[in-house]
Amino acid sequence: MNFTDKPIVVTGAAGFIGSNLTDKLLELGANVIGIDNLFNGRLENIEKAKKSSNFEFHKGDIRDLSFLLDIFKDVSIIFHQAAFTSVPQSVKMPSNCNDVNVNGIINILNAARTLDIEKVIFASSSSVYGDTPTLPKREDMKRLPISPYGVAKLACEAYMQTYYQVYGLDTISLRYFNVFGPRQKDSTYSGVIAIWLGNILRNENLTIFGDGKNSRDFTYIKDVIQANLLAAESDSPGEIINIGAGNPISLNDLANLMLKITNKKDLKINHTDPRPGDIIHSFADISKAKKLLGFTPIYNQEEGLIDYLEWYKNKHNINLDIKK
Ligand SMILES: NC(=O)c1ccc[n+]([C@@H]2O[C@H](COP(=O)([O-])OP(=O)(O)OC[C@H]3O[C@@H](n4cnc5c(N)ncnc54)[C@H](O)[C@@H]3O)[C@@H](O)[C@H]2O)c1
Repeated sequence: MNFTDKPIVVTGAAGFIGSNLTDKLLELGANVIGIDNLFNGRLENIEKAKKSSNFEFHKGDIRDLSFLLDIFKDVSIIFHQAAFTSVPQSVKMPSNCNDVNVNGIINILNAARTLDIEKVIFASSSSVYGDTPTLPKREDMKRLPISPYGVAKLACEAYMQTYYQVYGLDTISLRYFNVFGPRQKDSTYSGVIAIWLGNILRNENLTIFGDGKNSRDFTYIKDVIQANLLAAESDSPGEIINIGAGNPISLNDLANLMLKITNKKDLKINHTDPRPGDIIHSFADISKAKKLLGFTPIYNQEEGLIDYLEWYKNKHNINLDIKK
């Protein structure tokens, strides 16, 4: 990818996906401005980026339009990753989720329009599909979100399309399917792979909400970064595009795979009640991403898990026996 001298903004730069995207952009020679209010992000995630003279970090909130107007001056592209990201928390606090995600994107789009920004790329989510039975999920299918988080992401996509149709702003929404990898938080509201990895390293049994037959299209972070870079170069204004591995796995199989790779088959897999807002099956049709972006995932789930574990081993200097 060729970068102009104009900086690129990554919102949510101290979060899981935003920080990985920031590092990749810096590696490719871009000037990056990261913004984050540190609600869920960590300064530790941008320690590496901060060593680069091409990186600037601003602590601030996407709901603050004057802050955005100030930061976005002379910017070329915005990768909008900041969000209220927890599905279960959105069930508890729907207005907060709406405030950050929907009011936040309106501010981002208004600032981008005012300042003639070239392109806005938005991190949407497979949660917009809800529990519709047809699989794999295609972009033109019915969307019936079953959580306030999914509803907010759907509204954001509609705003992204509307700002293209009404104001001619170049926007693309990428619907991510369950992303995993380095820097994902190991906390109650995180993705299941990060939680189970934490359990495994502490020699704790794994817990599955429900019977474990539910499945997800776990997508490795490096493939999500690849998709964002392709989207930045593409000419697909107003489009909404699935980004997934295109390769679903049940939670039971995933738990067993993680125990196998980490050589911890003695740990148990326990089942508890399903969580409200959780969908049963999710699996991406990625033909549109292939066609419009030239996107092909490089990592299957096992390869992604191994890459993630290698990173974890090096970062924390731990002795982990990875079975390849
Ligand atoms: N991780 C996934 O599996 C997944 C799947 C689908 C979509 N997404 C989307 O991808 C994006 C990145 O997700 P992530 O997993 O890195 O989550 P994350 O929580 O690690 O990152 C989000 C970042 O946004 C910041 N933030 C929250 N509210 C803010 C505000 N008001 N102003 C400024 N910054 C704010 C947080 O502090 C955090 O650093 C989000 O939009 C998320 O909805 C993620």
